[in-house]
Amino acid sequence: MRRIYTGEALERKKPVIVLGATGLVGQRVIAMLEGHPWFTLGAVAASDRRIGARYGDAVQWKVETPPPAAALDVRLTPATPDASAQGALVVSALPADEARELEPLWAQAGAVVLSNASAYRMADDVPLIVPEINPDHLAMIETQRMRRGWPGALITNPNCSTIGLTLALAPLRLFGLRRVIVTTFQAVSGAGYPGVPSLDMIDNIIPYIGGEEDKLETETRKILGGVLPDAFQPLGAKETRISATCVRAPVRDGHLEVVSVELAARPDVDDIVRAWRAFTAEPQRLSLPNAPAAPLVYREERDRPQPIADRMAGDGMSVSIGRLRAHDTLTHSFVLLSHNTIRGAAGAALLNAELALARGLLD
Ligand SMILES: NC(=O)c1ccc[n+]([C@@H]2O[C@H](COP(=O)([O-])OP(=O)(O)OC[C@H]3O[C@@H](n4cnc5c(N)ncnc54)[C@H](OP(=O)(O)O)[C@@H]3O)[C@@H](O)[C@H]2O)c1
Repeated sequence: MRRIYTGEALERKKPVIVLGATGLVGQRVIAMLEGHPWFTLGAVAASDRRIGARYGDAVQWKVETPPPAAALDVRLTPATPDASAQGALVVSALPADEARELEPLWAQAGAVVLSNASAYRMADDVPLIVPEINPDHLAMIETQRMRRGWPGALITNPNCSTIGLTLALAPLRLFGLRRVIVTTFQAVSGAGYPGVPSLDMIDNIIPYIGGEEDKLETETRKILGGVLPDAFQPLGAKETRISATCVRAPVRDGHLEVVSVELAARPDVDDIVRAWRAFTAEPQRLSLPNAPAAPLVYREERDRPQPIADRMAGDGMSVSIGRLRAHDTLTHSFVLLSHNTIRGAAGAALLNAELALARGLLD
């Protein structure tokens, strides 16, 4: 029988190859690998112009804490696989176009790839995982391997706004989720580095982020839906209507979302808060290293959550929720906040890697 790992350290840590290692998400992955009980930094790759450069010279480090000393002298390698890919663990923080081309090459060469990119999130044989919600979707890997002939695998994590939204919605399914209307206020770091020009962002709000609204709607349906051995069963459009508006705000890190929901069972405010506070799942049961003790933190203060105050809740892995109000017996509104490069990206990919390891998918 396969061993199920819980939070304890492994005797030999698994090296992680980081693609897109110089970007904002890649940097977070490297920061989060420091001191990880199961994983250690292996190779780092970025665009071809960086090959051979020292990581410490190539990166414009933007994480609040200093870069791990061990990463500084590592030399950047090509983002294409070589013989070392067989059995490797890869975290991809590549832009979508590069991910579309390169991630299948790694899976074909035998690596298990945990991807932050949007390229394959909606593919019909690629799991899109939030470990607290749909770990069962990992079953699709068998079909993926059969269909594509990959010895490795490709597992994706959602868009940075989708993760916060789906975590807040997951416990509300119990009340019958009929309608979701969400407006996001997304941090500038969500666009990568250098990202949005400062002259467009200072003293401003941009009421459009290309492709984002569609991702929020379709990814949410896939994550909250079911899975058969060879097909995902997304949440039906008639069953649950979802509408999103995405806005860029002059905030460094932390996506805030204003959400209204229509719930068939007409719960009161206390029922909903209780459901959020009681919500834990497989990552918590397995004590996965990056699993927050409380995936959802409900705050009573009337002016929370806020990016500055709440983005680091649960080391950036918890979603903070507040301002729950009942408009009538059917409709409630609330505000949520999650750290876009931690829970929304690097931490999401690492938690997926931990889940994959705990389930024996990296053996
Ligand atoms: N930022 C977020 O909050 C967030 C959240 C969720 C998901 N994501 C997704 O995560 C991915 C990375 O986002 P990011 O914000 O870290 O972007 P970023 O700051 O722009 O970083 C992009 C990275 O990709 C590398 N790269 C660019 N072109 C390449 C090529 N042709 N071959 C190999 N590497 C190449 C860059 O290397 P160079 O330094 O050499 O150019 C850099 O390391 C994207 O797919 C994004 O949509 C981002």
